[in-house]
Amino acid sequence: MFTARFAVGVLILLLARSWIWRDKRQRILPPSPPGQPLIGHLRVIPDRHPEFQYARWAKEYDTDILYFNVLGRSIIVLNSIEAAHELLDKRGANYSDRPRFVLFEVMGWGVTLTFLRWSPRFVLHRKLLQKSFTQSACKAYQPIQAEEARRAARAIVADPNGWEIILRQFSTAVVLRVGFGIEVQEKDDPYVKMTLDVEEATGQGGVPASNVVDFFPVLRYVPNSIARLSKLFRPLIHARRTKRFIQRLHDAPWESVESSIRAKEHLKPSFVHTQFDQYLVNEAAGKPNDAMIEDIKGIAGAITIAGGNTTWSTIIVCILGLLKNPEAYAKARAEIEDVIGVDENRDLLRLPTFEDRPRLKYLANVLHETTRWQPLSPLGVPHATLADDEYNGFHIPAGSVVYPNVRAMSRDERHYSSPEEFCPERYEPVDRGGRGEPLPDGPFGFGRRACPGKYLAMSGVYIVISTLLATMHLRCPKDENGNEILPNIVFSDGLSGVPGSFGCLITPRSKHAEVLLGC
Ligand code: HEM
Ligand SMILES: *[C@@H]1O[C@H](CO)[C@@H](O)[C@H](O)[C@H]1NC(C)=O
Ligand SMILES: *[C@@H]1O[C@H](CO)[C@@H](O)[C@H](O)[C@H]1NC(C)=O
Repeated sequence: MFTARFAVGVLILLLARSWIWRDKRQRILPPSPPGQPLIGHLRVIPDRHPEFQYARWAKEYDTDILYFNVLGRSIIVLNSIEAAHELLDKRGANYSDRPRFVLFEVMGWGVTLTFLRWSPRFVLHRKLLQKSFTQSACKAYQPIQAEEARRAARAIVADPNGWEIILRQFSTAVVLRVGFGIEVQEKDDPYVKMTLDVEEATGQGGVPASNVVDFFPVLRYVPNSIARLSKLFRPLIHARRTKRFIQRLHDAPWESVESSIRAKEHLKPSFVHTQFDQYLVNEAAGKPNDAMIEDIKGIAGAITIAGGNTTWSTIIVCILGLLKNPEAYAKARAEIEDVIGVDENRDLLRLPTFEDRPRLKYLANVLHETTRWQPLSPLGVPHATLADDEYNGFHIPAGSVVYPNVRAMSRDERHYSSPEEFCPERYEPVDRGGRGEPLPDGPFGFGRRACPGKYLAMSGVYIVISTLLATMHLRCPKDENGNEILPNIVFSDGLSGVPGSFGCLITPRSKHAEVLLGC
């Protein structure tokens, strides 16, 4: 009974929407595969990893821009770096909105920059985050990252099989310390646990902006008793069930630092410490505050959710690339020996630091190649357009959802030869034997929505990978015949792709290496 009524309701909503959305002037839209009446391309777009099919369509129709209509909503997919630069960067002011992420709002991510629509609040959050994590502002966080990287390496020495979870704890500890400034315990930290739970819950929210409540926001009010009748509502029930975890992540770390900041004790380099201290100074001086406490908490929460899995996955992909390309691994190690110096046993004289980074040029290309080879968000985070626009004669309606197909860009053979290869040399200039290919530009997004945490993230990846290369052997496990088991990678769908587990033996190079780490 309820379901029948519900179905009729949805149909009416659809009809109304398709009527409103009909383009009355019949302008030429970008190419698209044939759709179906009313629901458009809903069932034409693959559920899982659509980036591959988008790339095939782009080839088939010989276009770098594709159009889809899903339940009356316009979707634009950009398949070349040129299109993304032209629209998302150059015409950024029109392309910096987001679609509504209703499911994530229900979950409690309502004041999280990533999901904020274009608004004064967006402008405020964006400004604060951007200026807190510029290349030079990130220097303040380097000691935290170095300390956590060494702690992670020691933990791997003690528990080699736990390397994946240990590295995940590394990235989580860094964002918690950088975001909230809380102390993280050596083992079984409750805040780290809390954050891992939240990442789990959020990851299970599925592909962003693709859920029934994302398409029809009023459906978020459907009571659970009815929602349970259809599997379409499973994500909604999941969101309601996990909301309290997300709330707790915003409140608990805050509560643990609030009073010490008020008392001006132990001021630490962290977003919350800096911003809340400023807030109190303004308050005492009778000056108005732009950022309210809710904003500060929201931004710290954004740092935590946006920076945890992403940094971790990048580290894992880098290890994967090095395992798959032993030559690159050997070169990266040799460069570290060269820059830091070795004793008669080929033991390094000291651990790598951030001061070494400018001289570790090959390693820099290893990190670039990591982001190109397996972009973590193959379709980025969708942007939305604020005004009607035109590109190459095609009409782009206001309110369109725009996906940059970063995966397709990274495989573009006009720019990258043998794009499936993990090959750091591709960026080296031709006159030094390299291929002179352009650095990847896209794995961190575009325009006014580009990732503000890029420098922080890549500093974290740098210090972990250089520390591991300096102190450990990284090897593939062997099967019973002594052949190496090469890792096979599968990426999850969702907010960011997370690589599946693979075997890797990480063992200390020598007793001396353990001593350097402080084991
Ligand atoms: C290697 C790790 C990371 C990768 C690959 C990554 C990638 C991305 C991408 C693709 C976007 C969407 C950009 C767009 O819409 O065009 C994004 C947005 C964002 N990232 Fe990162 N990110 C990483 C680490 C971090 C870290 C450590 C932080 C912490 C400060 C962070 C904070 C954010 C925020 C707040 C947004 C939303 C920006 C907005 O909507 O205006 N990210 N990131
Ligand atoms: C983070 O990684 C974990 C472990 O692979 C995964 O289960 C979860 O869904 C991911 N979360 C997000 C938000 O990507
Ligand atoms: C946004 O698009 C409209 C219509 O094409 C144009 O008039 C306006 O200048 C654009 N704004 C920017 C900043 O590109």
